[in-house]
Amino acid sequence: MVIMVLMGIIPTIIISCVLVSSYEKRAVMNRSEAIASCGRIIGTKIAESGYLKGESDESFDTEIHAVTDIYGGRVRILNDARCVVKDTYNIETGQILFTEEVEDCFKGIEDKVYTRSESRVSIYLPVFGPGTKEVTGCVLVSCSTLDIQQSRAILARQSAIITALFAVVILIVGFMLSGILVQPFKKLTNAINSVSPGFSEEPVYAPEYVESDQIAVAFNHMVSQVKTMDDSREEFVSNVSHELKTPLASMKVLADSLNSNPDATLEMYKEFMVDISEEIDRENIIIGDLMELIKTDGDSNDLKIESCDIRALLELVVKRLQPIADEAGITLYLECFRPVTAEVDSTKFILIISNLVENAIKYGRAEDGWVRISLNADKSFFYISVADNGIGMSEDVKAHIFERFYRGDKSHSKDIKGTGLGLALARAGISAHKGAVSVESKPEEGTTFSVRFPLVYVA
Ligand SMILES: Nc1ncnc2c1ncn2[C@@H]1O[C@H](COP(=O)(O)OP(=O)(O)OP(=O)(O)O)[C@@H](O)[C@H]1O
Ligand SMILES: [Mg+2]
Repeated sequence: MVIMVLMGIIPTIIISCVLVSSYEKRAVMNRSEAIASCGRIIGTKIAESGYLKGESDESFDTEIHAVTDIYGGRVRILNDARCVVKDTYNIETGQILFTEEVEDCFKGIEDKVYTRSESRVSIYLPVFGPGTKEVTGCVLVSCSTLDIQQSRAILARQSAIITALFAVVILIVGFMLSGILVQPFKKLTNAINSVSPGFSEEPVYAPEYVESDQIAVAFNHMVSQVKTMDDSREEFVSNVSHELKTPLASMKVLADSLNSNPDATLEMYKEFMVDISEEIDRENIIIGDLMELIKTDGDSNDLKIESCDIRALLELVVKRLQPIADEAGITLYLECFRPVTAEVDSTKFILIISNLVENAIKYGRAEDGWVRISLNADKSFFYISVADNGIGMSEDVKAHIFERFYRGDKSHSKDIKGTGLGLALARAGISAHKGAVSVESKPEEGTTFSVRFPLVYVA
């Protein structure tokens, strides 16, 4: 706004200053030209007469006075001795004048001197002898420029008034325009300021300018992303508290029932203590998984990358999970199509694959159940697939399995224990390794998880 006013006023001030000073220059020049032409006429007449030699000529004197009366000026005539032979003001008659301009004049140079402080312009005109280039005298014509300076002052005052009026108009127009011009940006500022906990997701529109429209679109996109993140954070927190409360609630029920039963036997105590211990283990697992998830969540800086024999790591996973598989009556197969050495964080890698194999066992078929783990590689990646012939899952379930705390309907109904964090953890670990995971599944037929890891880890 201030810039706008300055941009309007500064050029106006400059233009009026230039106009005023060029008026003065032009007026002084015209005045100088007028008196110079009178001086030249006088000079020509002097050259032809014996005036400079002291011959008096009354009619010529009258003529000079008549000329000076026209423009209210003064004429001084100097002979070659620089002596003033005629002064229409009769002040310097008979005096010798030695000035730089007079000397220039005797060298044949015409001079003009404008003295603003004295409001006067003077012209020095050389007088040449008849038919020669020899300077025989000098005509010094001067006149007042007071009227020019007065006009200049009036002009300056008028332009100052016009500039002031102009400034007021610009100020008013600028004020009105700025209100209209910044309207869309005000809307956006208000929308940005309203982003606080529990903000509304109502989109903001600012189609007035292309730029404001683009900002509004980007802002709406950002708001919807922030909203999604906010919702998922809220959901996560409520899930965590629910999951952590469940084992505690069970322990409380067990402990209370023992306390309220005065006839409780030692066997009952032992039995309830086993249950309480199981609940504590469950609580521990949840907390451990949560800590791991927070640590790994897409953060690749935390990995301890080393070159590993992938087959050896898979064998380790199989060895560790063999007892659970045996208990569930499921056969584990490990197929390695080629030896693979790759850069991974071995602990996290084992955790990822263990989660997949553990699921395949948990959700496997009780009769003739199998889990097939295979390893293959090309020039850039190695591929692991974990396939089972278990309960499978519907498309609906498949869409959510990587979400934290999500558990499929069947896992609930079949009373299979779990917290729904295993696959979330696995996916976080895979993305930290810059890998990818996909799943194919058919209810009652089986499931195959396919994971791809780069052979060389790139941070
Ligand atoms: N191989 C599988 N076959 C069928 N369903 C599966 C399989 N793997 C995962 N799921 C489904 O995906 C859901 C999420 O799996 P996830 O491993 O995250 O949690 P969970 O196994 O229920 O619990 P935990 O946190 O103990 O692993 C499971 O509850 C199950 O419904
Ligand atoms: Mg699991």
